[in-house]
Amino acid sequence: MSIDYSERIPNNVNLGDNRRLQRALEQWQPAFLRWWRELGPVGFQAADVYLRTAISVDAEGWATFGYVKMPDYRWGIFLAEPEPNRTIAFGEHRGEPVWQEVPGEYRGTLRRLIVTQGDTEPASVEQQRHLGATAPSLYDLRNLFQVNVEEARHLWAMVYLLHAYFGRDGREEAEALLERHSGSSERPRILGAFNEPTPDWLSFFMFTYFTDRDGKYQLASLAESGFDPLSRTCRFMLTEEAHHMFVGETGVARVIARTCELAKRHGVEKVGEHGGIELPIIQRYLNFHYSVSLDLFGSELSTNAANYYTAGLKGRFRETEHSDDHVLTQQTYPVLRVDEGQIRESQQPALLAINEMLRDEYIRDSARGVARWNKIIREAGFDFELRLPHRGFNRKIGQFAGFRISPLGEVVSEETWRSNESSWLPTEDDRQFIASLMKPVLRPGEFASWIAPPTRGINHKPLDFEYVRL
Ligand SMILES: [Fe+2]
Ligand SMILES: [Fe+2]
Repeated sequence: MSIDYSERIPNNVNLGDNRRLQRALEQWQPAFLRWWRELGPVGFQAADVYLRTAISVDAEGWATFGYVKMPDYRWGIFLAEPEPNRTIAFGEHRGEPVWQEVPGEYRGTLRRLIVTQGDTEPASVEQQRHLGATAPSLYDLRNLFQVNVEEARHLWAMVYLLHAYFGRDGREEAEALLERHSGSSERPRILGAFNEPTPDWLSFFMFTYFTDRDGKYQLASLAESGFDPLSRTCRFMLTEEAHHMFVGETGVARVIARTCELAKRHGVEKVGEHGGIELPIIQRYLNFHYSVSLDLFGSELSTNAANYYTAGLKGRFRETEHSDDHVLTQQTYPVLRVDEGQIRESQQPALLAINEMLRDEYIRDSARGVARWNKIIREAGFDFELRLPHRGFNRKIGQFAGFRISPLGEVVSEETWRSNESSWLPTEDDRQFIASLMKPVLRPGEFASWIAPPTRGINHKPLDFEYVRL
């Protein structure tokens, strides 16, 4: 098969002039399309979807809107413009020019970082593949598909790096990215949160708020990398990630708005009866998705993270804005851990606490959206506050794994945990109730009972625009 490279795969990496890369991508693309058909969105593949496609990295090109059938989406390869004279900002190579090729000594480590990031991208598409059948509106259906095609583009971005810079083993890793599957017992995705199902739209909105936000912080720390092609790829991916988190934040906000509206009209205890989602259920979903996403940052103390940092491969969030020495061998950082049945703070070597620093940034950022959600509840006149649970709650990785921590941050016994679990995490009843609300609403301008319409449409289109032509 032959591909017209500038048309078929929009790119700013001179794909048309790079025969070796063309051959590698020619081999990979059919496998990608097969994966998309088999494990991408179920149904709707022949529908015209009003999607944003990136055809260049400048202001006009990165968000071009139009109707596309998803299998014909132009998954492009884009790197943010190079920063002239960029130098490595941290670690033992600080001040040296950034690398345009993979440094031999870090080859294996860099490949691992790229594969781990790359693996999450198709995983989330797989997790969300059944949601189209229960979309609460055409607007939401379109947003789901936008997120899906962009996650697939993020896969392309990582596969480009593997093909262009890692030769044969890069090609093998690129194939393996299509062979592992979310939730598979034989070949699961690499990270735990990406093997959890996303069975309903409340989960989808929580996922895009909390788990895509982990993606933002991982991409931002890789954007600091001394390996310049990785840095530039991640910088461009971040522009797309913002939309995914917008879908999550506004999705949850609209659910809350609808709940408050129903509570005002019929009373708080009648919300469920009238097809809304009670705030305590929303809190339990929040608890689950937040805690699972916190695990994605890894252990509080990590020699791997320290090594990535010292090698100049993965930095801190906005590395250059920190006013310290960017080597971190002399500093300490406060880390929480369970000590004699109590959660205590201790000062640890900063270099070992790189994951915790990123998690702290993430927690602060997550709290901002929760505050906006609470404003909706407050302004509707209700005395209820959604809260991020304690960082130790429901953790499977790091210092808190193996302990039972309440949402308020008390170390509790197994017995206490079990008697409270149903008010802390989604129950089977919650999940069944949410599932019972998931009925497709696919007429332009109409919305399901459990969610308010958005305040505005996509790309200045009205709310009753036909975002997906069925
Ligand atoms: Fe992504
Ligand atoms: Fe994303």
